[in-house]
Amino acid sequence: MTTQSKPATDATPDADVVTIEYDNGVAWVTLNRPDKRNAMNPALNARMHAVLDELEADDRCQVLVLTGAGESFSAGMDLKEYFRETEAKGHIAVRRAQRDSYGWWRRLRWFEKPTIAMVNGWCFGGAFSPLFACDLAVAADEAQFGVSEINWGIIPGGNVTKVLADLMTQREALYYIMTGETFDGRKAAEMKLVNLSVPREQLRARVRALADTLLEKNPLTLKAAKDAFKRVVEMPFDAAEDYLVVRQESLNFLDKTEGRKQGIKQFIDDKTYRPGLGAYKRG
Ligand code: ACO
Repeated sequence: MTTQSKPATDATPDADVVTIEYDNGVAWVTLNRPDKRNAMNPALNARMHAVLDELEADDRCQVLVLTGAGESFSAGMDLKEYFRETEAKGHIAVRRAQRDSYGWWRRLRWFEKPTIAMVNGWCFGGAFSPLFACDLAVAADEAQFGVSEINWGIIPGGNVTKVLADLMTQREALYYIMTGETFDGRKAAEMKLVNLSVPREQLRARVRALADTLLEKNPLTLKAAKDAFKRVVEMPFDAAEDYLVVRQESLNFLDKTEGRKQGIKQFIDDKTYRPGLGAYKRG
């Protein structure tokens, strides 16, 4: 199910703060404030709502890749514009700014199409939220991550603490929360915070190859499969079992291409592929 959330602030959703490049089924979405290390300000957060709405309905986007311009994925929340200037306007402004940022991360988490975070460089604090929201993540070996909140006197909010609790072991999460030390892409991969890391010069090609693998799959099944995983994580065993039956049956109804039947036919009758080794051919 899609979670919809519209910008709550009056921030101008400046188109330039996020760019989109379409390339053979992939929409490369780039946080584009390189001079500010792609820190997330209210304008960027508002723009991301519009971008996600646009891409959901755009067939040029079959896989969404989220990355950052220049040497940064994102330096987290914009300390000046998101915190200091918003707080100066009072607590309602703060709540609205929170709704905008949390809103687009939630929207990304339940996006209709597969999503990949391509962590090209600095990734601090609040940037762990869109990182987590993406289904998959690939980092440059050289990327630097940090839960830097402790360094300027706050706890990791914006659900970053919850993200770390879900993705890291307790020892690792508390270590980085309490020390604010940075770690690189290799370490992020070792801790399973990202799926893998590769040398920076190979990053885009590796993400492209991953996206191409996803492009071969039935898109409705991908959406159902990723949502099912994210839902059952929070369910007791029997509820999960029942939910998965119902989710598959709803997919059977939604998929007018009858992919499941095609998949069986091409293996059992046509003998044109092996499901253990790759995807069936979609018509
Ligand atoms: N908020 C606002 N402005 C920022 C941020 C940020 N999070 N990160 C960088 N900038 C701005 C700097 O103020 C500077 O602006 P200026 O050119 O107008 O002076 C510009 O981006 C470049 O920053 P430098 O620090 O000069 O860049 P450098 O490449 O040397 O360092 C680094 C990059 C390490 C990312 C550094 O900018 C930094 O530590 N940023 C803050 C990281 C952080 O802790 N983010 C907050 C996490 S907590 C949270 O998100 C809730």
